[in-house]
Amino acid sequence: MTQHLSNVWFQLTDLPVVEGFGCIVRTSDGQEYLDFTSGIAVTSTGHCHPKVVAAIQEQATKFIHSQVNCYRNPIVEQLANRLYDVTPDGIDQFFFCNSGAEATEAAVKLARQATKRPNVVVMDAAFHGRTMLTMAMTTSKTSYRAGFQPLPSGIFPTPFPNAFAWGCDETEASRRALKQLRHLLKSQTAPDETAAIVMEPVLGEGGYIAAPNAYIEGVREICDETGILFVADEVQSGFGRTGKLFAMEHCGVRPDILMMAKGIASGFPIAGIGARADIMEKWPQGSHGGTYGANPIGCAAALATIDVLVNDGVVANAAERGIQLTAALQSLQVHDKGLADVRGPGLMVATEFMDANGEPDAVRVAAIISRCRDEHNVLFMNCGTYGNIMRWMPPLIVSDAEISRAVEAFAEAMESSR
Ligand SMILES: Cc1ncc(COP(=O)(O)O)c(C=O)c1O
Repeated sequence: MTQHLSNVWFQLTDLPVVEGFGCIVRTSDGQEYLDFTSGIAVTSTGHCHPKVVAAIQEQATKFIHSQVNCYRNPIVEQLANRLYDVTPDGIDQFFFCNSGAEATEAAVKLARQATKRPNVVVMDAAFHGRTMLTMAMTTSKTSYRAGFQPLPSGIFPTPFPNAFAWGCDETEASRRALKQLRHLLKSQTAPDETAAIVMEPVLGEGGYIAAPNAYIEGVREICDETGILFVADEVQSGFGRTGKLFAMEHCGVRPDILMMAKGIASGFPIAGIGARADIMEKWPQGSHGGTYGANPIGCAAALATIDVLVNDGVVANAAERGIQLTAALQSLQVHDKGLADVRGPGLMVATEFMDANGEPDAVRVAAIISRCRDEHNVLFMNCGTYGNIMRWMPPLIVSDAEISRAVEAFAEAMESSR
């Protein structure tokens, strides 16, 4: 069957899915699975939300490819205006592309042009994509870069404040990480050579860890002191995933550049960056672009998705279901010391497993994920450098009952893996 298909993609499952609706995916033999992967945190409004489907269908009858350099379809500006309304203050102008990696590339290209500085600081355990530049910025696992080196230079990783791993509280983690960042700017990349600090406000692939507010505020302070641009990668944390439309809203810090993808259009491949107008204006016309960026069907899907998220109470649902989920998972910790940490925010929830020696327990996580799939028809995915973290990223429309069903499956699988 796969004779003509590349084998390069890693496979979480080989389920032959043919349909998806809400939180459910259905296979060709009629089996239904509760999908807590959301296609890796993408299907924010669920699979095939009727309003998103209708918007895509309608747009497909009007224009499939109104190439953005050749002419200007008003739907592109409509999406920019809508994003201006819903993104954090200070994000004024938008550029559209097709994937999270392309959004990262665009953010770095913009930062370099705007500052005329070459280097970029990234966090340890970051994930920003798999193109040549973004591989160099992705520090979560060697498997993303092994065999592809050497990678582009000018990328400088700094520790992400990881209170759980460091065995300290968030205040101390922030203090240490900020000290390391200041040290990096003294020892390896001088501020006047540094265009941007790029960070996920909640680490995604690296382990679903929210940066403490104090750290994000500290990074903002350093950027203000030095003229370095603060780039928030909200590819995974954006569009309601954390219980607010953007994770940066939890701390109220303004990024200079905001990256968006995944949840923006419920699965239609569109992505983008937003930036302060005075920064965006420094991007020379014609110096960046792409054939498919700002695709009108993608714009229609994004506009419909934002309407559903904001007007149908989906972001509020993500916050409420997140509280329900974390409370249920925390109650399981009482009976099982292997479940070493449960953390939010919203529906960006991690359950981290350690073994009796205090080492990351990837074997147990793999066993739990398999059992949930095979015995309970619930799909989960792991994350983290050591693969010992299960990430909970259901569609944001998930119901109270679906959360309970997934937690029950998880509890049974946890018990059977002891
Ligand atoms: C935070 C973050 N940035 C960037 C990316 C890259 O996105 P894409 O896979 O669409 O290139 C991802 C993908 O998982 C991500 O989670």
